[in-house]
Amino acid sequence: MISASDISAGLSNIQSTDNLTDLDALRVFWLGKNGLITKEFKQMSTLSKEQKADLAKVLNDFKSKILDAIAAQKNTLLDRAIDQELSKTKDVSLPSRRMHVGRIHPITQVINKLYHFFELRGFTSYSHDHNFELESEDNNFTFLNIPENHPARSMQDTFFIKDKVLRTHVSASQPRILKSIEPPIKAVVFGRVYRSDQPDATHVPVFHQMECLYVDDQCSFSHLKDTIDAFITYIFGKKMKIRYRSSYFPFTVPSVEIDVWLPQEKKWLEILGAGMVHPEVLRNAGHDPEKLRGFAFGVGIERLAMIYFGLSDVRQLYGADLDLLAGCNLWQ
Ligand code: DAH
Repeated sequence: MISASDISAGLSNIQSTDNLTDLDALRVFWLGKNGLITKEFKQMSTLSKEQKADLAKVLNDFKSKILDAIAAQKNTLLDRAIDQELSKTKDVSLPSRRMHVGRIHPITQVINKLYHFFELRGFTSYSHDHNFELESEDNNFTFLNIPENHPARSMQDTFFIKDKVLRTHVSASQPRILKSIEPPIKAVVFGRVYRSDQPDATHVPVFHQMECLYVDDQCSFSHLKDTIDAFITYIFGKKMKIRYRSSYFPFTVPSVEIDVWLPQEKKWLEILGAGMVHPEVLRNAGHDPEKLRGFAFGVGIERLAMIYFGLSDVRQLYGADLDLLAGCNLWQ
């Protein structure tokens, strides 16, 4: 019969093992198939019911003490092994070194925030299809009702590559979407556009736009206005002073441009062009302009970033001043 003092001697044996093999040997000694405790359990069959119950209680208590001690000792041995391994190569008591963490570029932050807004309003982003930087002249110009003699079609304003163009605006996605998505259409597309511009404080030859296209049987200028007002408030986190200016785009009628007031510089800055989709654009994509209406707008992403982050020169967004870029956080 195992006594309580046998068990306490057993426990201190377990606590003094210094390796996992010895520890496992002790487990077998007590609890293995022929272990001391196991054997006693087996011998219980000869006892009366009451004796059995009393003994089982004692044996189960011994068993759990041994198991707990083995588990605790195993943890101690494993920790010790890790400490030993670390002390061979590293001094873990040294203070940590600052890790350099990258940031999301301000342009990408603006894109992400716009994406979030339009996703919540039920728009789908077609940035992964219908979104080509190298476009046909048809998609960039002709299907958008841009006439042959339009200045954008001249060599000075547009990069031509064989029979294609580096698109001058993300509106070039409109014909693709109109031809392949069944209305109602609620689409946004983000991407790079190219213009043969001399870089200055407000122009770079490659920049980013978001194109928004909404087409349905019921759609009015007031839907356009609501969408634009709401997204501008969302992006800047407050109501901005904006103005709608009448304008001309071959692919919208009527057309407007929208400016944001910059109080510090005391001037208006244009951020987007918009309008009701021109009947000719719908017709070019095989739709009946009597049955469908739409609105569209194209936003300059760099312009939004400049206003939000208070930058005076668009080139700062593409410069090497990492402190400036790291300080740009749209989600604060
Ligand atoms: N594509 C125009 C540009 O790049 C902007 C624009 C104006 C887009 C009116 C539109 C629109 O969708 O309806 O200047």
